[in-house]
Order: sequence, then structure tokens, then C-alpha cells
Amino acid sequence: MAEAVTWSTLRTEAAARLRDAGVPSPDADARWLVAAAAPDVDGPVGERALAYFDAMLARRRSGEPLQYVLGSWGFRSLDLLVDRRVLIPRPETEVVAGVAIEELRALGGGTAVDLGTGSGAIALAIATEVPAASVWAVDRSSLALEVARANLAGIGRPGARVRIAEGDWFDALPAELRGQLQVVVANPPYVAEDDVLPAEVRDWEPHGALIAGPSGIEDLDRIVEEAPAWLDRPGALVVECAPHQTEVVASLAEAAGFDEVEVGLDLSARPRFVLCRLMGA
Ligand SMILES: C[S@@+](CC[C@H](N)C(=O)[O-])C[C@H]1O[C@@H](n2cnc3c(N)ncnc32)[C@H](O)[C@@H]1O
Repeated sequence: MAEAVTWSTLRTEAAARLRDAGVPSPDADARWLVAAAAPDVDGPVGERALAYFDAMLARRRSGEPLQYVLGSWGFRSLDLLVDRRVLIPRPETEVVAGVAIEELRALGGGTAVDLGTGSGAIALAIATEVPAASVWAVDRSSLALEVARANLAGIGRPGARVRIAEGDWFDALPAELRGQLQVVVANPPYVAEDDVLPAEVRDWEPHGALIAGPSGIEDLDRIVEEAPAWLDRPGALVVECAPHQTEVVASLAEAAGFDEVEVGLDLSARPRFVLCRLMGA
């Protein structure tokens, strides 16, 4: 009798096939795919689970990012639905969300706005981790907001404190929020049109989530300039950007009238975001 196939053998074979296809982390990815397909990695390999596994393996071999193949990805304490409608949430953005959360806690809670929410990652993390927060999640992409809404539905009670608004940065918000926000946080597009991106990013992630314009600074510039009019005093803006943009963004924030401007580091100790505070009136 032929020996029954096991998840362990399938994982080893999948890693080899991913390696052949040029996937950069074949062993780790094979483990992720098995974990997603197998109800029990030590149990028998069912027909449906195997078909699902093979389909995921083919997608990953074609270069599709692991997170889209799996259909979900972790962000802080959340497990978020992700697909091609949204940017894949990045570890550096978990740091940025953490800073926004600390700022909001220090202010005793209040209203926070996540500009360019995509999957809803930052907005939903704030709502989940700060019980005294009321959160607005803004995006101009209706497709991204479909994903954000699905993720919102998945977080339970904190979701009652989150509202979603479709539109262009601050223009999406009701006018009565002007001057009333405790925290604004954004991970806007910050790639320049001519920048070279890794193929896995360029070919799969939404261009509207990545490319800002000819210089890459266009959206950062608008957000930093408009934020003081929307923030209460005290209040804080936290914006993610590329390491080479932090000094420019810090100068823009000083020119926009922020009282304190600090550049913060990501988990690899690269400059990655700018924290801008307005002091109490
Ligand atoms: C870099 S992604 C960030 C997604 C998510 N916040 C995250 O960190 O994973 C930028 C997001 O900004 C949105 N966006 C781009 N231009 C915008 C604009 N003018 N107004 C509102 N949202 C915009 C994109 O649709 C995209 O979802």
C-alpha cells in the first residue's frame, strides 16, 4: 500500500517548489500555507484541504504576496482581512499606530482620525486599544473601504466607536470636527512616480495606496499643512513616511506651526515617522 501523504511532506515539497519559483522565503511561506490549509498538521490530509493548499501554492508561486494568498494578516492585536483592494499592513505602521495610541491615551482619549485607512489597520487598532477613543477612518478608495468595513465588523464592540468616511483627506470629514481632533494619524502614499519598487509591491498592491506624485511628498505636504486647523490644542499628528523624507516632513511641520516636532524610528531603527504636537491653548 502506498504511504499516505502527510502535511509535513507537503510542506517540504512546497518549500522546494517555492524556492524554484524564486520566492524569497520559501520555508517560512510553506509553513504559513500549511497552517492555513490544515485543520490539524499532524492529522490526515483531506481532499478539500489539499485542493485549497495547492491553489494557494500556485498563487504564491506566481508571485502574489503571501498576505493576499492567505487572505488575512496580523496587525498589532488584530487579524485583518487583506486582499488586492488594500495595501498590506506593514510592521513599521504597527509602530506608528502605537505612537498614535500613546498620544491619545496621554490626552485622556478623544477623537482620532486615520487618514488613508486602507484595510482599517490603524483606525481599528486605536479603537480596540483605547476604550475612550472615538475614531474616524478615511479613504478615497471605495474598494479599500469595503475591506475596512469588513474588518470593522470583525472587531466586535469597539467597532461601535468607529465611523468610516469616503473622500479626499480632511475634506472627507464633517466640518464640525474642525479644531476638535485630539489625534490625526496617517500612512499616506509616499512613493515618487519614478521610484523603483520591488516587483511584488509594484505588480500587486494598489498604486493609489503607494504613489503620491512626481516628488512623493505631495500627500504628506497636504496632510501636514492642513492638520493644525483640524486639531484641538493640545493635539498630535503622527505621519509615516520614507526614511529619506523625515527631515523634509519635520520642516513642513515646523512651517505649519506645530510646537514640537520629533522624528521617530521603526523596528529596524530607521527614521520612519514624524510626531508633531500642538501645545494647550
Ligand atoms: C499607504 S496606504 C495605507 C493603508 C493603511 N493605513 C495601512 O497603513 O496599512 C495609503 C491609503 O491612502 C489612501 N489614499 C490615497 N490618496 C488619498 C486621498 N487623497 N484621500 C484619502 N485617502 C487616500 C489609499 O487609498 C490607501 O488606502
